[in-house]
Amino acid sequence: MVRPEPLRIGVLASGRGSNLQAIIDAIEAGKLDCRLAVVVSDRADAQALERALKHGLKGVFADPKAYPSREAFDQAVLAVLAEHRVELVCLAGYMRILTTAFVRALSGRIMNIHPALLPSFPGLHAQRQAFQYGAKVSGATVHFVDEGVDTGPIICQAAVPVREDDTEETLAARILEQEHQLYPRAIRLYAEGRISIIGRRVLVREDP
Ligand code: GRF
Repeated sequence: MVRPEPLRIGVLASGRGSNLQAIIDAIEAGKLDCRLAVVVSDRADAQALERALKHGLKGVFADPKAYPSREAFDQAVLAVLAEHRVELVCLAGYMRILTTAFVRALSGRIMNIHPALLPSFPGLHAQRQAFQYGAKVSGATVHFVDEGVDTGPIICQAAVPVREDDTEETLAARILEQEHQLYPRAIRLYAEGRISIIGRRVLVREDP
Protein backbone atom coordinates (compact mmCIF):
# COMPACT_ATOMS: atom_id res chain seq x y z
CA MET A 1 0.00 0.00 0.00
CA VAL A 2 1.44 3.38 -0.96
CA ARG A 3 0.55 6.19 1.42
CA PRO A 4 0.39 9.76 0.18
CA GLU A 5 2.35 10.72 3.31
CA PRO A 6 4.27 8.64 5.85
CA LEU A 7 2.24 7.24 8.73
CA ARG A 8 2.27 9.62 11.68
CA ILE A 9 3.12 7.87 14.91
CA GLY A 10 3.12 9.01 18.53
CA VAL A 11 5.18 7.28 21.22
CA LEU A 12 4.13 7.21 24.87
CA ALA A 13 7.01 6.45 27.23
CA SER A 14 7.69 6.84 30.94
CA GLY A 15 11.39 6.04 31.28
CA ARG A 16 14.61 5.00 29.61
CA GLY A 17 13.20 5.08 26.09
CA SER A 18 15.46 2.51 24.46
CA ASN A 19 12.56 1.23 22.36
CA LEU A 20 11.79 4.80 21.36
CA GLN A 21 15.44 5.08 20.33
CA ALA A 22 15.15 1.92 18.21
CA ILE A 23 12.15 3.44 16.42
CA ILE A 24 13.98 6.75 15.88
CA ASP A 25 17.06 4.91 14.58
CA ALA A 26 14.97 2.82 12.16
CA ILE A 27 13.30 5.96 10.81
CA GLU A 28 16.59 7.84 10.50
CA ALA A 29 18.20 4.86 8.75
CA GLY A 30 15.40 4.82 6.19
CA LYS A 31 14.21 1.40 7.36
CA LEU A 32 10.88 2.65 8.64
CA ASP A 33 8.88 5.08 6.55
CA CYS A 34 7.02 6.91 9.33
CA ARG A 35 6.92 10.36 10.83
CA LEU A 36 7.41 10.43 14.61
CA ALA A 37 4.98 13.27 15.25
CA VAL A 38 5.22 13.46 19.04
CA VAL A 39 6.65 11.74 22.12
CA VAL A 40 4.50 12.06 25.24
CA SER A 41 5.70 11.19 28.73
CA ASP A 42 3.94 11.19 32.09
CA ARG A 43 7.31 11.84 33.74
CA ALA A 44 9.18 15.11 33.43
CA ASP A 45 12.54 13.39 33.94
CA ALA A 46 12.01 10.58 31.43
CA GLN A 47 15.11 9.85 29.37
CA ALA A 48 12.68 9.31 26.49
CA LEU A 49 12.00 13.07 26.41
CA GLU A 50 15.72 13.82 26.25
CA ARG A 51 16.07 11.41 23.35
CA ALA A 52 13.22 13.15 21.51
CA LEU A 53 14.84 16.53 22.05
CA LYS A 54 18.21 15.28 20.87
CA HIS A 55 16.69 14.15 17.59
CA GLY A 56 14.73 17.35 17.04
CA LEU A 57 11.41 15.70 17.78
CA LYS A 58 8.47 17.14 19.64
CA GLY A 59 8.42 15.95 23.27
CA VAL A 60 5.54 16.69 25.62
CA PHE A 61 5.42 16.15 29.36
CA ALA A 62 1.84 15.52 30.48
CA ASP A 63 1.67 15.85 34.25
CA PRO A 64 -0.80 13.39 35.80
CA LYS A 65 -0.95 15.56 38.92
CA ALA A 66 -2.42 18.41 36.89
CA TYR A 67 -5.64 16.46 36.27
CA PRO A 68 -8.41 15.44 38.66
CA SER A 69 -8.72 11.86 37.35
CA ARG A 70 -7.12 9.25 35.11
CA GLU A 71 -9.92 9.90 32.63
CA ALA A 72 -9.15 13.61 32.48
CA PHE A 73 -5.44 12.91 32.08
CA ASP A 74 -6.04 10.46 29.24
CA GLN A 75 -8.31 12.97 27.49
CA ALA A 76 -5.48 15.50 27.66
CA VAL A 77 -3.05 12.98 26.14
CA LEU A 78 -5.61 12.18 23.43
CA ALA A 79 -5.81 15.90 22.66
CA VAL A 80 -2.01 16.10 22.27
CA LEU A 81 -2.07 13.09 19.92
CA ALA A 82 -4.91 14.61 17.89
CA GLU A 83 -3.14 17.95 17.72
CA HIS A 84 -0.18 16.17 16.12
CA ARG A 85 -2.44 14.13 13.82
CA VAL A 86 -1.15 10.85 15.19
CA GLU A 87 -2.48 7.79 13.36
CA LEU A 88 -0.74 5.05 15.36
CA VAL A 89 0.18 5.18 19.06
CA CYS A 90 3.15 3.11 20.22
CA LEU A 91 3.49 2.44 23.94
CA ALA A 92 7.14 1.99 24.81
CA GLY A 93 7.65 1.50 28.52
CA TYR A 94 4.57 3.58 29.32
CA MET A 95 3.86 2.79 32.96
CA ARG A 96 0.17 3.67 33.05
CA ILE A 97 -2.90 1.58 32.41
CA LEU A 98 -4.95 3.29 29.73
CA THR A 99 -8.54 4.19 30.45
CA THR A 100 -11.34 2.51 28.53
CA ALA A 101 -12.18 5.79 26.80
CA PHE A 102 -8.61 6.14 25.55
CA VAL A 103 -8.48 2.59 24.20
CA ARG A 104 -11.89 2.91 22.54
CA ALA A 105 -10.97 6.24 20.94
CA LEU A 106 -8.01 4.61 19.20
CA SER A 107 -9.20 1.05 18.82
CA GLY A 108 -6.82 -1.02 16.67
CA ARG A 109 -4.41 1.90 16.54
CA ILE A 110 -2.43 1.37 19.77
CA MET A 111 0.51 -1.03 20.01
CA ASN A 112 2.56 -2.10 22.99
CA ILE A 113 5.79 -4.02 23.47
CA HIS A 114 6.05 -6.53 26.28
CA PRO A 115 9.22 -8.33 27.42
CA ALA A 116 7.82 -11.88 27.48
CA LEU A 117 6.04 -14.31 25.19
CA LEU A 118 2.42 -13.42 25.92
CA PRO A 119 0.11 -14.73 27.20
CA SER A 120 2.83 -15.92 29.61
CA PHE A 121 4.04 -13.43 32.20
CA PRO A 122 1.88 -10.34 31.64
CA GLY A 123 2.19 -7.29 33.89
CA LEU A 124 5.23 -5.89 35.62
CA HIS A 125 8.73 -7.43 35.74
CA ALA A 126 7.99 -9.97 33.02
CA GLN A 127 11.66 -10.93 32.63
CA ARG A 128 11.90 -11.63 36.37
CA GLN A 129 8.66 -13.60 36.29
CA ALA A 130 9.96 -15.83 33.47
CA PHE A 131 13.36 -16.26 35.12
CA GLN A 132 11.95 -17.13 38.53
CA TYR A 133 9.36 -19.47 37.06
CA GLY A 134 12.16 -21.43 35.43
CA ALA A 135 10.93 -21.00 31.86
CA LYS A 136 13.40 -22.30 29.28
CA VAL A 137 12.27 -19.84 26.63
CA SER A 138 11.01 -16.30 27.00
CA GLY A 139 11.07 -13.39 24.59
CA ALA A 140 9.24 -10.31 23.44
CA THR A 141 5.78 -9.57 22.06
CA VAL A 142 4.31 -6.65 20.15
CA HIS A 143 0.54 -6.58 20.43
CA PHE A 144 -2.42 -4.32 19.89
CA VAL A 145 -3.78 -2.82 23.07
CA ASP A 146 -7.25 -3.69 24.26
CA GLU A 147 -8.90 -2.90 27.57
CA GLY A 148 -6.97 -5.52 29.54
CA VAL A 149 -3.35 -5.54 30.67
CA ASP A 150 -1.16 -7.12 27.96
CA THR A 151 -4.13 -9.06 26.57
CA GLY A 152 -4.62 -7.61 23.07
CA PRO A 153 -4.13 -9.40 19.72
CA ILE A 154 -0.50 -10.43 19.10
CA ILE A 155 1.25 -8.93 16.07
CA CYS A 156 4.69 -10.54 16.33
CA GLN A 157 6.93 -12.29 18.80
CA ALA A 158 10.60 -13.20 19.19
CA ALA A 159 11.77 -16.10 21.33
CA VAL A 160 14.82 -15.84 23.57
CA PRO A 161 16.22 -19.01 25.17
CA VAL A 162 16.94 -18.85 28.90
CA ARG A 163 20.51 -20.02 29.47
CA GLU A 164 21.74 -22.02 32.42
CA ASP A 165 24.12 -19.23 33.38
CA ASP A 166 21.59 -16.42 32.93
CA THR A 167 20.72 -13.96 35.63
CA GLU A 168 17.56 -11.92 35.49
CA GLU A 169 19.69 -9.05 34.15
CA THR A 170 21.43 -10.97 31.35
CA LEU A 171 18.13 -12.44 30.24
CA ALA A 172 16.49 -8.99 30.25
CA ALA A 173 19.37 -7.59 28.18
CA ARG A 174 19.02 -10.29 25.49
CA ILE A 175 15.25 -9.80 25.41
CA LEU A 176 15.78 -6.05 25.02
CA GLU A 177 17.99 -6.62 21.96
CA GLN A 178 15.12 -8.52 20.38
CA GLU A 179 12.62 -5.82 21.37
CA HIS A 180 14.65 -3.26 19.47
CA GLN A 181 14.35 -5.35 16.29
CA LEU A 182 10.76 -6.36 16.80
CA TYR A 183 9.04 -3.03 17.46
CA PRO A 184 10.19 -1.20 14.31
CA ARG A 185 9.29 -4.33 12.31
CA ALA A 186 5.74 -4.40 13.72
CA ILE A 187 5.29 -0.69 13.03
CA ARG A 188 6.53 -1.16 9.47
CA LEU A 189 4.00 -3.95 8.86
CA TYR A 190 1.25 -1.62 10.06
CA ALA A 191 2.55 1.34 8.04
CA GLU A 192 2.62 -0.79 4.92
CA GLY A 193 -0.99 -1.79 5.47
CA ARG A 194 -0.10 -5.46 5.73
CA ILE A 195 -1.90 -6.15 9.01
CA SER A 196 -5.51 -7.16 9.55
CA ILE A 197 -7.13 -8.05 12.86
CA ILE A 198 -9.61 -10.93 12.73
CA GLY A 199 -10.94 -11.47 16.24
CA ARG A 200 -7.90 -12.32 18.35
CA ARG A 201 -5.76 -13.16 15.34
CA VAL A 202 -3.55 -10.66 13.57
CA LEU A 203 -2.94 -11.69 9.99
CA VAL A 204 0.16 -10.38 8.25
CA ARG A 205 0.37 -10.27 4.47
CA GLU A 206 3.90 -11.11 3.43
CA ASP A 207 5.75 -9.36 0.65
CA PRO A 208 4.23 -10.19 -2.76
C1 GRF B 1 10.75 -2.66 27.80
O1 GRF B 1 11.30 -3.83 28.32
C2 GRF B 1 9.35 -2.91 27.29
O2 GRF B 1 9.18 -4.19 26.77
C3 GRF B 1 8.51 -2.74 28.53
O3 GRF B 1 9.13 -1.68 29.23
C4 GRF B 1 10.50 -1.62 28.88
C5 GRF B 1 10.76 -0.23 28.40
O4 GRF B 1 12.12 -0.01 28.14
N1 GRF B 1 7.14 -2.49 28.18
P1 GRF B 1 12.56 1.28 27.36
O5 GRF B 1 12.02 2.48 28.13
O6 GRF B 1 11.99 1.21 25.96
O7 GRF B 1 14.05 1.27 27.36
